[in-house]
Amino acid sequence: MRLTLIIIGLLATMLISCSSESEQDKQYQDVEGEKVFNPTLLQVNIPENFPELTYDLNSNPPTKEGFALGKKLFYEGKLSSTGIISCGECHRQEFSFTHHKHIVSHGVNGLLGTRNAPPIQNMAFLNEFNWDGAANHLDMQPIIPITSEVEMNETFVNILNKLAADNTYPPLFKAAFENGKIDTANMLKALSQFVVTMISADSKYDKLIRNEGGIAFTAQEKAGQKLFENKCASCHAGTLFTDQSYRNNGLPLDPEYNDVGRKLVTGLAEDTRKFRVPSLRNVALTLPYMHDGRFKTLNDVLDFYSAGVQDSETLDPILKSNNNLGIALSQEEKEQLISFLNTLTDTNFIFDKRFAEF
Ligand code: HEC
Ligand code: HEC
Repeated sequence: MRLTLIIIGLLATMLISCSSESEQDKQYQDVEGEKVFNPTLLQVNIPENFPELTYDLNSNPPTKEGFALGKKLFYEGKLSSTGIISCGECHRQEFSFTHHKHIVSHGVNGLLGTRNAPPIQNMAFLNEFNWDGAANHLDMQPIIPITSEVEMNETFVNILNKLAADNTYPPLFKAAFENGKIDTANMLKALSQFVVTMISADSKYDKLIRNEGGIAFTAQEKAGQKLFENKCASCHAGTLFTDQSYRNNGLPLDPEYNDVGRKLVTGLAEDTRKFRVPSLRNVALTLPYMHDGRFKTLNDVLDFYSAGVQDSETLDPILKSNNNLGIALSQEEKEQLISFLNTLTDTNFIFDKRFAEF
């Protein structure tokens, strides 16, 4: 019995190594007797205080060439019907890839969306995307902004024609993908290869957690961290500062948008006005706040948690424990919390040339 298992095991190992060898062979194959497909694999380093990746790198291994194409596409206005709205227009690096000046997103012809652009950082660790989780795979997420009438308002057929007609793109697709095709699958894969490498893990908080030496919190930051752990970390949990669940944190309904959040995806009444708990990494830079960008400052956010939380059927139970609505906070505690939140800013990420347009 054991012997059989060992033999099966050996056979399986041989099969796996054969197939990986043939994968290798494929990469170094002569194409039409001349060109050699030989992309350079990019190492995606997971910071030691981070969880496992959720993105399956084996299904779309990032390469230097795929990254370069993805980055060019990210900053490409041709992805929109008007030729000027790129992904990078709404996701700006200096604000951790959010849209700073706009409460809700601003797309083609100045049309307004209904939601605030979230930061693009650490996407490779998330299970679902957008405030309501409407996209359950990173590769599929861009279909939403590209085809949205108020965002990029473009079709894939048009985009692919525009890219094929632009001299710079055909060689980039050839370098990044073995079949070299300018098609939707390759375009989405390239965008993901760029986005999965956008890992922000170098804040003062991270350096302290990783014991990188010479880093200490001030008394005020330490007090804020303690408050955060007691009052906020049940939802803004763990290294990513989100447990990735959908919750109603008691924002009064905005009559203008009447956004029901997660219910749009599940259709369930119990999901009404629930939104994904956002990560608070780089939160000092990602203003304005909440799914509709209603708060301009972190102080406004804390005033809301301490005095503005509104009861409703779907309000998260954590925010109405012992019949008290919200999270009681003194002015001093608010200041301490903000000092702690400021330690989550990662300037290396903001200034990382790899992700910059120019
Ligand atoms: C007009 C502004 C705008 C443009 C252009 C835009 N986005 Fe976004 N992006 C948003 C908004 C707003 C959301 C949140 C949408 C929602 O929750 O419904 C978002 C969400 C995302 C998310 C999910 C973030 C998360 O935390 O779940 C990713 C990834 C993303 N965008 C990538 C892209 C890419 C790639 C492109 C280009 C193909 C792009 N965006 C173009 C505004 C924009
Ligand atoms: C019951 C879960 C829960 C608790 C507890 C909680 N939050 Fe939140 N938080 C959320 C949810 C959900 C959102 C998004 C709500 C929305 O936009 O509709 C949010 C949004 C935020 C935002 C806006 C982030 C952005 O990118 O727009 C900040 C800042 C924030 N919370 C800070 C805190 C702080 C500080 C505490 C503790 C005092 C706290 N939260 C406690 C669930 C919670």
